[in-house]
Amino acid sequence: MDKQKAKMIVDKEHKLAEVDPRLYSSFIEHLGRAVYGGIYEPGHPEADESGFRQDVASLIQELRVPLIRYPGGNFVSGYNWEDGVGPVESRPKRLELAWRTVEPNEVGTNEFIRWAKGIDSDVMMAVNLGTRGVDAARNLVEYCNHPGGSLYSDMRIGHGFKEPHRIKTWCLGNEMDGPWQIGAKTATEYGRLALEAAKAMRWVDPTIELVACGSSSRAMPTYAEWEATVLDHTYEQVDYLSLHTYYGNHDGDTANYLAKSLDMDHFIKEIVAVCDYIKAKKRSKKTIHLSFDEWNVWFHSNESDKKLEPWQIAPPQLEDIYTFEDALLVGSMMITLLKNADRVKIACLAQLVNVIAPIMTENGGKAWRQSIFYPFLHASLYGRGTVLIPIVSTPRYDSKEYTDVPVLDTAVVYNEQNEELVIFAVNKSLEGELLLESDVRGFADYRIKEHLVLENADLLAKNTAQESDQVRPHNRGNAQVESGVLQAALPALSWNVIRLGRTAAAHS
Ligand code: AHR
Repeated sequence: MDKQKAKMIVDKEHKLAEVDPRLYSSFIEHLGRAVYGGIYEPGHPEADESGFRQDVASLIQELRVPLIRYPGGNFVSGYNWEDGVGPVESRPKRLELAWRTVEPNEVGTNEFIRWAKGIDSDVMMAVNLGTRGVDAARNLVEYCNHPGGSLYSDMRIGHGFKEPHRIKTWCLGNEMDGPWQIGAKTATEYGRLALEAAKAMRWVDPTIELVACGSSSRAMPTYAEWEATVLDHTYEQVDYLSLHTYYGNHDGDTANYLAKSLDMDHFIKEIVAVCDYIKAKKRSKKTIHLSFDEWNVWFHSNESDKKLEPWQIAPPQLEDIYTFEDALLVGSMMITLLKNADRVKIACLAQLVNVIAPIMTENGGKAWRQSIFYPFLHASLYGRGTVLIPIVSTPRYDSKEYTDVPVLDTAVVYNEQNEELVIFAVNKSLEGELLLESDVRGFADYRIKEHLVLENADLLAKNTAQESDQVRPHNRGNAQVESGVLQAALPALSWNVIRLGRTAAAHS
């Protein structure tokens, strides 16, 4: 059988948008072992004087995460932020209803923000619009951002934080359309509350940016109508609308699983349409951007989570052990976000440590990189600059739920400052290599710097504490460029990063 071929034309003038670095954000919730046993474990040999694990912090720093969403998630809808500030010994232990655990409140707003700043990340703070409302939200903004001379700002100073935290980006609740949410609401109830909370929060600090809750997934019964109603109320007071999605391969159908990035693409385009419909309806000059603030693969741990005893502190919840196959879909999802970088300005890989996460830890033991760490790492390191719009011609396939699935999924980013052109590509073919030929005429003097490949003979290969390198990339891809034409054989089922640069000439 002839090898499959794909062709591409890349033109540096054909630009989509600048990549907002916040596309490489993540999320830490008070859930499972994300905080306790994840980033924070006093007594661990790697813990610093505040109890935060330095081995975990270094792995996070590798990923160059600019923004971390906190403290939830479903958790935030029952959270009293006041429980997590002030002397640790006086903080209450609370029944945490979202995940049926006990929250010890040893880590709260100040500890988390100080830790995040220490690893060069900003915090995207969520307020509780489930059990609480306008008052608690505006007080938290005052606590975090007001310089001093008022009840809550002076309280922060009294807690040892003289300088305001200057939290810029705030989520107005979490997944308020979901019946599982503590204090779930109808779109009208939420739209009204979000508007009033937004007004009061901005009156405390007019420099903040606000994210309104969109649907919890594209499958919600109120999908699209929810967004339209919420934006009808909040349009002029918010900056972003949130999207969340998780995928899984429940029936072992790889071709169909890898096609699920198309669902993400449809989701984004449909929500852009809803935002622009409300813009038209209001004759507004303002454009709403998207915050895809939860996205990932999540299914491996579903069954074991059902068996957990309730009311434990930091039990192992949502601990998906990711396969090589999952890394391919995560790569494709990352590509999808890049291809929509004109409207998606924030995206949070959910989550960051232990809970559906690229980084895993053992209590008292090691920390290591899961398979999905790598596509996210590569995109975060090399996907900064301008997203270009290539003309792509690729073979396509049909799967159980999708038709015309491109075998080549690709995004191209040009970093003018570094004189680097990067092609991210997933070959979704189960059958074999895909021969890629790309016309890169505008980059005639560029040479191949590196062709990174993530491939594995075993789709279900995974990294564990004992074998933490079963899935890891190599740089022996065979991309070559000559007279402005790039050729590369992309192995069957592989994630590829082809970096071209003006100066380095590793192998032309
Ligand atoms: O990320 C895990 C959970 O998924 C979050 O708490 C919630 O927002 C979503 O349903």
